[in-house]
Amino acid sequence: MTQDQLKALVGQAALAYVQPGTVVGVGTGSTVNHFIQALGAMKERIAGAVSSSEESSRRLRALGIEVLDSNRVERIAVYIDGADEIDGQGHMIKGGGGALTREKIVADLADRFVCIADESKRVDRLGAYPLPVEVIPMAVAQVARRLAGLGAQAKPRAGFITDNGGHLLDAHGLSITDPLALECEINQWPGVVTVGIFARHKASVCLLGTTRGVQTLQF
Ligand code: A5P
Repeated sequence: MTQDQLKALVGQAALAYVQPGTVVGVGTGSTVNHFIQALGAMKERIAGAVSSSEESSRRLRALGIEVLDSNRVERIAVYIDGADEIDGQGHMIKGGGGALTREKIVADLADRFVCIADESKRVDRLGAYPLPVEVIPMAVAQVARRLAGLGAQAKPRAGFITDNGGHLLDAHGLSITDPLALECEINQWPGVVTVGIFARHKASVCLLGTTRGVQTLQF
């Protein structure tokens, strides 16, 4: 099976976690795009979606699924999203698509985070994938220096502006031994909007697409 077929497999499998009659939290990325497509088949049975990006919102609306303002939703039962890396405890690196801030906001509204990913995303230790950090423009150089202080090479994502008007730094060369502590530390730096470590908002479940089928990891 190709990587895209594995993504489609878990996108479809995630439908089992959607509770009829509720608002669904929808992430961003190529794996989620398969989930959105599958969700179209049960659009009459959900109360709408809260979306983590303009791109996902556009895809949801194109299928006739109502996208609700996150400020009007107090809780959602399930948030379904992909990951760039996921470790054995459900900690993730996210933000390869640049939507990390809204992804963390929607994850914070949700009772459960269901991660959907192909098996290439499963790692023992986070950090081989460059860690995205969304930054307010005037803090880019200073946050890059701070990341260098942790041993990373931080590269501005050229020509990319987030849905929130922020800039992105991608931190290469980190080996993340304590995801929760590093998330908390980077979050404290002035000018950082969001760091792409999801440890405080880790996955509750991961549906991992493998050549032997969908493997369900519980955390
Ligand atoms: C988007 O900003 C990311 O967090 C995605 O969830 C992540 O990059 C996974 O994307 P793919 O499903 O495209 O691999």
